[in-house]
Amino acid sequence: MTRAVALFTTLASLVLIICPAWGEDTPAAATGPDLAKGQAVASQVCAACHGPDGNAIAVIYPKLAGQPAQYIVKQLKNFKTGDRVNPIMGPYAAALSESDMENVAAYFAKQSVKPAMAKIALDKNVLGQKIYRAGLADKGVPACAACHGPAGAGLPAQYPALGGQWPEYSAAQLTAFHDGVRHNGPMMLTISQRMSDSEIKAVSDYMAGLH
Ligand code: HEC
Ligand code: HEC
Repeated sequence: MTRAVALFTTLASLVLIICPAWGEDTPAAATGPDLAKGQAVASQVCAACHGPDGNAIAVIYPKLAGQPAQYIVKQLKNFKTGDRVNPIMGPYAAALSESDMENVAAYFAKQSVKPAMAKIALDKNVLGQKIYRAGLADKGVPACAACHGPAGAGLPAQYPALGGQWPEYSAAQLTAFHDGVRHNGPMMLTISQRMSDSEIKAVSDYMAGLH
């Protein structure tokens, strides 16, 4: 009897040593993100602006559906520390723990984006298409596709998805980079500073139909 109790105690403390966060708020990094928890945060908190499936309800709110998870987490951390400033979004990011961020990001990354514009308009947007696919060689603007992908799907861990995004949001971000208001992406600072307002608008409209 005593030996059984001793054995049990040893096993229990072993479990605690191996899994110190067992039953607590387990960091997502140790176990992988929890999609159910992510969906709960999304529907209770984020859905009001970004939509329950990340297809945001108004043009000032970015679509998060299909956005690579690492990019979402990076932006949330940037909002929380103040490296990216927005009075509406800032307080929501500040309220999230690191595992909340990873869970909700994994949930939105798995959703499908509903493009903001019909693909049919893409070929007519000659300037937008040129900038996106080939860049503007004379101004030193690289092809957006080189980093953000030919269909605008982005590249996990490095580059955000742009395809299907509200053109108003994309143009606002490019302008914010251009003016140095948003400064959490050094690559985009240089690129946007070489672009005129009409070039920013053309490429933003083009990306809205990409998917
Ligand atoms: C009251 C509205 C509102 C709510 C609720 C809200 N957001 Fe936002 N969110 C915004 C706005 C506005 C922006 C755009 C900020 C800007 O223009 O820089 C934004 C931007 C973001 C971005 C940056 C996207 C990108 O493409 O760079 C992420 C990521 C994000 N929100 C995640 C979330 C998550 C996760 C939640 C829920 C925990 C949430 N938001 C709740 C309004 C909201
Ligand atoms: C060398 C790689 C690279 C190239 C080329 C590039 N980008 Fe980016 N872009 C980035 C990175 C990295 C970020 C994310 C910055 C951050 O972490 O906030 C980004 C972010 C953005 C965002 C903000 C997305 C969001 O959801 O808020 C927009 C809009 C954008 N890029 C548009 C463009 C356009 C238009 C072009 C072509 C003229 C372009 N990019 C070319 C690397 C690149």
